[in-house]
Amino acid sequence: GIIGCAGRGGATLDTLVHGLSKLEYRGYDSAGVALSGSEVRVEKRAGELDALRAALDDADEDLTGSVGVGHTRWSTHGPPTDENAHPHRDCTGEVAVVHNGIIENYQELRDRLTDAGHEFESDTDTEVVPHLIEERLMAGDDPETAIRAAVDQLDGSYAIAVVVAGVDRVFAARNDSPLVLGIADDAHFLASDVPAFREFTDRVVYLEDGEFAVIDADGWRVTDGAGALVDKRVHAVDWDPEETGKSGYEHYMLKEIHEQPRALRQCLRGRVNEMEGRVSLDVDFDPERVQFVACGTSYHAALCGAHLLQRSGIPAQAFLASEYATSPPPIGEDLVVGVTQSGETADTLSALREARRRGARTLAVTNVVGSTVSRECDQTLYVRAGPEIGVAATKTFAAQVVALTMLALTTDGEQRDAIAALRDLPGNVQAVLDSSTAREVAEEYVDSEAFFFIGRGLCYPVALEGALKFKEITYEHAEGFAAGELKHGPLALVTEDTPVFAVVTGDGELARKTIGNVKEVEARDAPVIAVTDGQSDVERYADHVLRIPTSEPRTAAVLANVQLQLVAYHTAAMLGRSIDKPRNLAKSVTVE
Ligand code: G6P
Repeated sequence: GIIGCAGRGGATLDTLVHGLSKLEYRGYDSAGVALSGSEVRVEKRAGELDALRAALDDADEDLTGSVGVGHTRWSTHGPPTDENAHPHRDCTGEVAVVHNGIIENYQELRDRLTDAGHEFESDTDTEVVPHLIEERLMAGDDPETAIRAAVDQLDGSYAIAVVVAGVDRVFAARNDSPLVLGIADDAHFLASDVPAFREFTDRVVYLEDGEFAVIDADGWRVTDGAGALVDKRVHAVDWDPEETGKSGYEHYMLKEIHEQPRALRQCLRGRVNEMEGRVSLDVDFDPERVQFVACGTSYHAALCGAHLLQRSGIPAQAFLASEYATSPPPIGEDLVVGVTQSGETADTLSALREARRRGARTLAVTNVVGSTVSRECDQTLYVRAGPEIGVAATKTFAAQVVALTMLALTTDGEQRDAIAALRDLPGNVQAVLDSSTAREVAEEYVDSEAFFFIGRGLCYPVALEGALKFKEITYEHAEGFAAGELKHGPLALVTEDTPVFAVVTGDGELARKTIGNVKEVEARDAPVIAVTDGQSDVERYADHVLRIPTSEPRTAAVLANVQLQLVAYHTAAMLGRSIDKPRNLAKSVTVE
């Protein structure tokens, strides 16, 4: 993530470090800052932000400057080391650059610059940028012209922010990587995401690809690739800074798990009409067929979405976004729906662009207002879960599934049962949170060899999501399987040391068949933990039961998932893992 600020006077360094703490979810391999006054001073360290804080505390003199930039890194080129941390500088040390994204032609630029006598200190693609700027400054360009000329030579994705010694401004450019300006009365900011400066202002301007921005203490300006002024709209952010704090919870993830009732109320507000038995969303949705594209947790929500649409009679299929873009399936008259919490995931954006190139209409289902996906798609359905900081997605998954449930219901005529179930869902999630025995289950099985999750129908994506959450934050081996598929291979892995979480809701055919699979597992001495609404007799075959309230089948998945979130959380806590920032992961991955 990147941040820049101007106009904060003696508080520039604190403002940058505070901003980085709010952006750490975008990467935490290394962090750094550059402050510019008469000269540019840089401090950067491998490791989490605390390593940078310690280095700043130990420094002989305080870093000062009227403007500055900062960066938290998620490595793409080169391992996380002090040298590879941003900001990067040119040979003179007068230019400092922070960058998100990937510069695809960096090797040829680096070769050319090396031949011209430039010396490089890092393995990063980013480091070519300050050297390109230096080259233009040496040729006599003013800073803005030099930075534009440097950016013109880059291929790939970038959000870049630059400071230059002796210049009280921060310069920024964007292509395929998010960048937003913050506008306060006496200071201006730029960052990858609003939480970085939300404490100082709620007025923001979203940059588009190809745009260039300059901020100083007194003002801001956005220009297009040709240098012409762009008339940008100033948006007001509608959430409070406190929403990005931990509110007394030990981890953001636990806080966000507990925020699910509220997130779902926000998601549902004004969209379901119980009197009329109707759902009305602010999107035009009447497709012949639907293709979903998504990654990670959002892909699991998309699998639920596809299942729910099929149930409503609309052919639908979910694709992993990274596979869709490389081998796109036929589109026909399809609507392509991108499900993405952040709205910035490069794989998902790329799949949607491919779909558009091939003539499809696109709908974004996202949590982040003003995100790239919402600006690129024909229509947007916001899931309204509120800001999510924990890298492992929790409340946004619940809100995505509910948003997709509503979407399916818009095509379905009168749906009183489902609507009543949606109305009751926030309260039922609260009941699970209040009564869950997930912690005891975690205690009992924390030392197991591996953890398996099974389910059918809508409970299959829940099994996948349960396993993903578990592996993300516990670092233990966890896999989700379609319950019926277990016997076709994975059963070979099942032993007395591999607890199996069976998600079984209702008492119909699916439940009956999954119970058959549970018996197969039990016969191999594996402990069974049933996540169930108590309608079937799965409890008879289970060592532990994680109870959820009985509800309409379409809403049971969200409830079952809450139990699995809690099991993953408590297991990770017992193992002492870095829950909010699991190793090697980032919340928003803006590279393919
Ligand atoms: C990253 C995160 C996952 C997330 C995925 C998709 O890999 O670590 O938790 O599910 O991106 O993110 P999106 O913002 O598109 O939902």
